[in-house]
Amino acid sequence: MSRPYYVTTPIYYVNDKPHIGHAYTSIAADVMARFHSLEKCPVTFITGTDEHGQKVAKAAQQKGMDPKAFCDEVSQSFVALSHAMHLSNNDFIRTTQPRHVKAAQALWQRMVDRGHIYKGSYAGWYALRDEAYYTEDELVDGKAPTGAEVEWLVEESYFFDLSKWQEPLLAFYEKNPSFIMPKERRNEVLSFVKSGLRDLSVSRSTFSWGVPVPGDEAHVMYVWVDALTNYLTALGFPDNTPALESFWPQAIHLVGKDILRFHAVYWPAFLMAADLPLPKQVFAHGWWTVDGQKMSKSLKNTVDPMMLADRVGVDGLRYFLLRETSFGQDGNFSMKNLVERYNADLANTLGNLCQRVLSFIHKTLGPRVPQQGVMTPEDHALCQGARDLVKDQRKHAETLAPHKMLESLWGLISACNRYVDTQAPWALKKTDPQRMETVLFVLVDVLRYIGLYGWPFMPQTFDKLLDMLHVPRAQRFFEALPPLVPGQDLGTPEPLFPRLVDPEQDDVKG
Ligand code: MSP
Repeated sequence: MSRPYYVTTPIYYVNDKPHIGHAYTSIAADVMARFHSLEKCPVTFITGTDEHGQKVAKAAQQKGMDPKAFCDEVSQSFVALSHAMHLSNNDFIRTTQPRHVKAAQALWQRMVDRGHIYKGSYAGWYALRDEAYYTEDELVDGKAPTGAEVEWLVEESYFFDLSKWQEPLLAFYEKNPSFIMPKERRNEVLSFVKSGLRDLSVSRSTFSWGVPVPGDEAHVMYVWVDALTNYLTALGFPDNTPALESFWPQAIHLVGKDILRFHAVYWPAFLMAADLPLPKQVFAHGWWTVDGQKMSKSLKNTVDPMMLADRVGVDGLRYFLLRETSFGQDGNFSMKNLVERYNADLANTLGNLCQRVLSFIHKTLGPRVPQQGVMTPEDHALCQGARDLVKDQRKHAETLAPHKMLESLWGLISACNRYVDTQAPWALKKTDPQRMETVLFVLVDVLRYIGLYGWPFMPQTFDKLLDMLHVPRAQRFFEALPPLVPGQDLGTPEPLFPRLVDPEQDDVKG
């Protein structure tokens, strides 16, 4: 059995409706989870909603709702997003669930028991939007460095002794060079930690919408202590479950670059303080802008993933988000680019290949696997290339480079298109029907691999392709594809990307 694989998305704040930024992390995590399931790894993939904190309490108040009722409602839109994007998550964590409250309190208690939490009082510039305090010298023109409004707050608070963790953290990063990825982000975190860490205020007493501090109900936990714990909650913490033991040390947290510090500095420090093992990796991806602008509620330019899925299909959207930009870099969304990529890569390069090969076989041979006949070195090279591509896919999955996985897969798809053009099976039909069968045999063989490699990215489309190729579901694993049997039935070909859309008709903003 292969190594367990555990991948997480951030849990999303329920004060916002889902947009493509949220869909992006979730889809990337889903691709990684599905890829590892093709390797026959035991996989856990979780996502969820972050429901505590002053921001959520205020959003509920503005709607005249009880915070819990508000969270119940908004978290459903993230559950709906998971379904609509065809995510294969095993669980959906809500931080208001009793199992999570229990986990957060247990983590807190472990830190208290080991002497890492003390009571003091806090004064500082607090930005509600960021749920974070800033010092005087961090402010830019009287605002947080993120541009958020700040207010001066003095409150009694519990503190976590973060300052003591500077050396242990640096030693840990040094020993685990791929803990923070990509490299540039790692360097940023390193210099932040090297510049010195201050103890962190980890409770609030000015509002009550949060996880109560054990033994002091006047305080609720700082929302990040609560939220980060969700990654353990999902595995059954505080119970010492088999899932916790096997999956936790393999954990890979996918996060946006804006929340890297919480995951790469605070989180490992909390875990060390609680004497718990650390996750394997934190990977920070970039941000999407829309038509060159930052996406924000106030600019009214947030892009709704559900609407895009209506236009280009869920798989079209999944493909675009992971292909358009390198994972780790920022990207720019425009409807024009989405439609262009859909047309060029999906409808043309991939869709045409499948359509012309499978409908030609259907017309010429009836739907059956062609005879293999005598293969030329060129035929062998294409079939072998398809098999060997798994190495590339593995290498790029390991470094979380889904864009490279797609790029190399499209290299194979283009090679098939060139092969069809040069071999011209329609011409062979008259001159050399035996050779025609061999060419078509090669193509069917390779299409099975394309189906498998593409499946993590576009599960619906490639399930359809693999169904047409009659690859049994039980054999859809990298190691399990059996030799292709000539004469076996094939399904009736159906177009994979039937819809072409006109960007002029689309207004993406909501
Ligand atoms: N609740 C915290 C995370 C707690 S995890 C223990 C949070 N929530 S969030 O809803 O504000 O953001 C969730 C994720 O969405 C973050 O990783 C953030 O980077 C990502 N994105 C938000 N806007 C984005 C873009 N415009 N582009 C890409 N990702 C973006 O932070």
